[in-house]
Amino acid sequence: MTIKAGKTTFSRVKESDLPLLHRWFNTPHVSKWWEIDGKRHPSLDLVKKHYSPRISGDERVDVYLIIHDGTPIGMVQLCKMDDEPAEKANFGLDRNCAGIDLLIGEADYVHRGLSSGIIREFLKQIVFKEYDVDRCIADPYVKNEIAIKAYKKAGFKYLRTVWYEKEGKREHILCIDRNEIVNDAEKVGANQGR
Ligand SMILES: CC(C)(COP(=O)(O)OP(=O)(O)OC[C@H]1O[C@@H](n2cnc3c(N)ncnc32)[C@H](O)[C@@H]1OP(=O)(O)O)[C@@H](O)C(=O)NCCC(=O)NCCS
Repeated sequence: MTIKAGKTTFSRVKESDLPLLHRWFNTPHVSKWWEIDGKRHPSLDLVKKHYSPRISGDERVDVYLIIHDGTPIGMVQLCKMDDEPAEKANFGLDRNCAGIDLLIGEADYVHRGLSSGIIREFLKQIVFKEYDVDRCIADPYVKNEIAIKAYKKAGFKYLRTVWYEKEGKREHILCIDRNEIVNDAEKVGANQGR
């Protein structure tokens, strides 16, 4: 299947999307890197238990579907690091930051070069538009080379390496600042105006 660069939008995950998330969490390329409550192959019940409070707003993590030319292909979750003070301290963050995690669950769409464009669009359309944060960070495992490359290609820079006790793994903390995205969007607008 040939995948062309297309229009990417984002919409909030609903309860009715949870079976889709369950399928994605159980695909080999996602389960290699993503656990829910320590489970690499979570049941639908576990996915519901974990994600329903995020959908209802009881837990302050916002979850979005990635929509590529009308097709849901993956998910991005976002938290404000001020809502996660222990992680914020462990990651050595002193600013008003958002933290994101993403996956492309549809096997036909992964490893096709879409990820950096998706991340840039998420920063422009959601993170720095909808949230009052100066910086966005990501915390991929040091061994997750594909994710690290994807974030760096989107413009994230390496900050530091930390030990993440909760997951029992070392992670790279990568970051991008609001002015890098806002100035970029202004440049695009300025060029279009010429
Ligand atoms: C992380 C993820 C979203 C990246 O999306 P992707 O579609 O795989 O990434 P892309 O095809 O855009 O490629 C990104 C980089 O990884 C490289 N890459 C992609 N697939 C690869 C593969 N199978 N083997 C080795 N490198 C690969 C690409 O060459 C590219 O590097 P480049 O910038 O040097 O060209 C996706 O792999 C995924 O959903 N993984 C499972 C969940 C996960 O790990 N999430 C990250 C949590 S922090």
